[in-house]
Parts: sequence; structure tokens; C-alpha cells
Amino acid sequence: MKILITGGTNGMGKGVAAALAKEAEVIIVARSEERAKATVDELGPNASYVLADLARLADVRRVTEELHAQHDALDGIFVNAGLGYAAGRVETEDGMDSHFQVNYLSHFMLTLNLLDLLERSEHGGRVIFNVASFGEMDWDDLQMERTWGYERGIGQAMVAKRMLVARLHALCRARDDSRVSFVGFQIPKTVWSNQINIIPWPMRFMATVVKLFGGFISIDDCGRIMAPLFTEPHASSLRRSGKLITEKKGALVEIPDIDFVLDPAEQDRLWRVSLALSDDDATRRIADQLVDKLAS
Ligand SMILES: NC(=O)c1ccc[n+]([C@@H]2O[C@H](COP(=O)([O-])OP(=O)(O)OC[C@H]3O[C@@H](n4cnc5c(N)ncnc54)[C@H](OP(=O)(O)O)[C@@H]3O)[C@@H](O)[C@H]2O)c1
Repeated sequence: MKILITGGTNGMGKGVAAALAKEAEVIIVARSEERAKATVDELGPNASYVLADLARLADVRRVTEELHAQHDALDGIFVNAGLGYAAGRVETEDGMDSHFQVNYLSHFMLTLNLLDLLERSEHGGRVIFNVASFGEMDWDDLQMERTWGYERGIGQAMVAKRMLVARLHALCRARDDSRVSFVGFQIPKTVWSNQINIIPWPMRFMATVVKLFGGFISIDDCGRIMAPLFTEPHASSLRRSGKLITEKKGALVEIPDIDFVLDPAEQDRLWRVSLALSDDDATRRIADQLVDKLAS
């Protein structure tokens, strides 16, 4: 199997990459060549990397072309890379809030452009989205120019990713020939990730106390919990497609999502906004083909 992991150089992505690299080929999408090389050395011969800063739409476009040139098929994508704590709002060179672009929009574009490789998977392609069941969309201030907060940014991207799971599921299930599944997974406990090294010291101190009482899991635990989502039989993955799930006492269980996320009109609004912001002909062509199929 061949799995693409965004943000595999640290945290949850690295934990999942390490678990999968024992039995599958893992390709990491990384923004730092130094960290990518170090991670691949650590993970062994099944791991490789491609470089893309997901805060740059041009990088997403280039890396999807590179992946098409290098691979005939992909068996899975872990939509994971994301910004967490930040001291202030950072605007990308594409003029967007960096949480919105890195955590959500670049993955919208990446996933759409790699759907054809997933469709060619012999195992049945799947996209697992790293999500959590919180957050709100602010349609009036999507780029958070008026009211910024890093937690708002994380939350808005979480909602957007969950809406994308539902939307892609609906679009692909409307096609007779699609075999790809889309699953939103919420890790049941906070993961001791690289975020600990980024947050201010009072927060780090609090986190360290919470860790002493078992409030965190390691990235290895995260890998153990999540890796089976990529390797389970395709029929099981298809049964979970379009849903938000988590792990409870060793079993995967569904979490009912909020009405806003499940509303096809809101999903369609986000879809159209995402296409406009991506401003990319190839992405628009793929999106149009998917939507035409739904309408026919
Ligand atoms: N930790 C948790 O408990 C938890 C719970 C639920 C969901 N999540 C979500 O899980 C995801 C990973 O979080 P984490 O806690 O594992 O954080 P982390 O340890 O900071 O890892 C984040 C990963 O994303 C990569 N990344 C960040 N910005 C990027 C960019 N512009 N281009 C390419 N890659 C970029 C990082 O690369 P570098 O190595 O170069 O920094 C790193 O590999 C996030 O989306 C987060 O919202 C986390």
C-alpha cells in the first residue's frame, strides 16, 4: 500500500507514518527538507518525501503534478498537516489567514487533484481527515481579519474539513465508478505533539501537569489507533465514509455531527468559496466533473 501523509515530520502525522511504514509505503508531504530527510531516515526504507509548503497554493499545484509524475496510484491520504498555537494572525502570500489555508484550503485542493490516483488503488482509495468535533464557520470574516484567534482558526478549519468529508462522500457516492472513501477521525485524547514545544511556557507547564495525570497520549499511541483506518478492508472504510468517527474502548464509533456541517447548502457554499479561493483551473475542472455527475 502507498499512503500520502501531510505533516508527517512531527506529531500525529509522524506517529501514523511510523506505524504505517512498518508494512506500507509512506510518502510525507513536508515543508522543511531538513526535517523531511531526518524523518525518512528514522522511518526506514519504506518512507520517502515530497516538499510543499501548504501555506502556498503554488506549492500545492506543483506537488500534485510531481506526485502524478512519480506514482500511478495512491491507496490513501492522511489529511493532517496543520497549524496550532500562534501568537498572532499570519497572512499567507496568497492573501489568506494561514490557519485557513494550511489546515483546510490546501488540503481541499490537494485531495481533489489526487482523487484520480486514489481511484486507481487496488485496495480502494481512502482519505482520512484529522478532525475534531468543535469549531464554527464565520462566513462574514472567513479569513479572520476582524476577529482573530488561533483557536478560532483551528476550529473553523475543523468544521470546514468535516463539511468537505460529507461533500466528497456525497459526490463520489453519486458516481457508479467511484471507489474512494472519506472519513473524519477525531483522536479520543489529546496527543503530546510538537505543539508542546511551540506554546508559551505557562501553557507548557499546565500541559506537563496534565500529562502527569494521564491527560495525553503519545504520537506512537496515535499511530497505533489510526493506522488501521488506512489498512482495513475497503468495504469497512466505505461503511464509515462521510462520517465523523472516534475510538472508544478499542472500537471505532460514530459521533453525530452538527446540523450546520451536515447541511448540503452550507457544504455547497463552502465548496464554491473554496474553488474561488483556490483559483486553479485544474481543481475547478475536477470539481465541475464531480458536481455534473451528481446533477445527472
Ligand atoms: N495534538 C492533538 O491532540 C490534536 C487533536 C486533534 C487534531 N489535531 C490536528 O492534528 C494535526 C497535527 O497536529 P499535531 O498536534 O500533530 O501538530 P504538530 O506536532 O505541530 O505537527 C504539525 C505537522 O504539520 C506540519 N505543517 C505545519 N504547517 C505546514 C505547512 N505550511 N506546510 C506543510 N506542513 C506543515 C508540521 O511540519 P513541521 O514539522 O515542519 O513543523 C508538522 O509535521 C493538526 O491539523 C491539528 O489541528 C491535533
